[in-house]
Amino acid sequence: MRVGIIGSGYVGLVTGSCLAELGNRVICVDNDAKKVAMLRKGKSPIYEPGLEDLLRKNVKAGRLGFSTHIAEVVKKCQILFICVNTPPKDNGEADLSYVENVSREIARHLTSYRLVVEKSTVPVQTGEWIQKTIRENVKKKALFEVASNPEFLREGSAVHDLLHPDRVVIGVGSPKAERLLRALYKPLKTKMVVTDLKSAEIIKHASNSFLATKISFINAVARVCDAAGADVERVAEGMGLDPRIGLSFLRAGLGFGGFCFPKDLAAFYRISEKMGVPFHLLKSVLDLNDEQKKYYVQKVEKAVWNLKGKTLAVLGLAFKPDTDDTRYAPSIDIIKQLKAEGASIRAYDPAAMERFKEIDPDLFYAKDAYEACKGADALLLLTEWKEFAKLDLKKIKRLLQQPLLIDGRNVFRPDVVRKMGFQYQSIGRP
Ligand code: UGA
Repeated sequence: MRVGIIGSGYVGLVTGSCLAELGNRVICVDNDAKKVAMLRKGKSPIYEPGLEDLLRKNVKAGRLGFSTHIAEVVKKCQILFICVNTPPKDNGEADLSYVENVSREIARHLTSYRLVVEKSTVPVQTGEWIQKTIRENVKKKALFEVASNPEFLREGSAVHDLLHPDRVVIGVGSPKAERLLRALYKPLKTKMVVTDLKSAEIIKHASNSFLATKISFINAVARVCDAAGADVERVAEGMGLDPRIGLSFLRAGLGFGGFCFPKDLAAFYRISEKMGVPFHLLKSVLDLNDEQKKYYVQKVEKAVWNLKGKTLAVLGLAFKPDTDDTRYAPSIDIIKQLKAEGASIRAYDPAAMERFKEIDPDLFYAKDAYEACKGADALLLLTEWKEFAKLDLKKIKRLLQQPLLIDGRNVFRPDVVRKMGFQYQSIGRP
């Protein structure tokens, strides 16, 4: 099949490369000419395991191409995925102006049937707006349809998630649209959930909101565990083995970050409010998430007594491991709060330091975890990169001024590190 991807950001590139890998002829469009030139050489502008290999392989095989012109994909491709950004506005609402512009542009070049698929995460009813916009702007009487096909990709394992999904959700309005999308995903041999357009849109927001709710729930439980002297990991295990609850997304820590959960929860809340059915629980989930970062800063403060004048080693800046993404990372708020109290930071992250420098150029950025710890009053672990679990803790202890380890991700075993002489604090564990 011929597939056009409009918007070559994170979702667009992963979708485009994987659909090319499945044997389709794919053209990805972006209005950034520099990015397109880079992609044509098979180079990925983002850090995502496996993506660059796929890009290179499929560009070489002639299945994957890039363009700066929407007209080209509308002319050549029967299925058009809208993958542009839907950033949050100040009030939490999703900014859909890019989606609108792309819809108008598609309409301008439409001459024969095209299936326009929204892939970007959008609030319910966006599909209707896309339909209306195309209908109003189309020049000739071209037939088209709008469908929804939300993505469930996790950063760091997006390629794997797309090629091995638990399910593919499609929201369609006709048997023809269903047939086209079923054919496209047939090689994945996965369960297809076929719904109407609006239900598919809600599936995406509701899924992310539910997962985020699990995280805030377990973080709140962790605080109760801390207060009571119980162990949140045992509690999560005891709860999660009930298949109705499930073990995943019950890891207590510093709360959720990234460009999906915080913005999607806020957008889902806003649309529910706009429709007159405010989903209050989501507000509490976001509040708990913010409190979790403050809770951690208080833990640090209690451990070092005064933050003013203290030097703190921070390991981990990315919002989670295996990505260089720092958007809405808990590290941002935590470092800001620590600095506001007068602490200075020696930071290290295996992939996210360049990105973090754009947020805060004034930290000391170390070349590795050991350099970050040199002379610091405490070690703060904010992202659970695998390499941090393998650190030479004896060496770390020698480098620190005080053997104080405040583990925001429950990476270390309390009995082991305490035996080594560390004063150790974590989240919700005695
Ligand atoms: C999330 C969803 O998992 C994907 O299904 C979805 O497609 C994607 O958003 C999206 O909407 O595009 P992602 O943001 O990449 O994916 O990251 P997750 O792995 O879900 O983690 C999100 C945050 O929750 C991270 O900050 C992570 O540290 C935190 N988390 C996760 C916890 O604190 N505890 C957990 O048990 C799990």
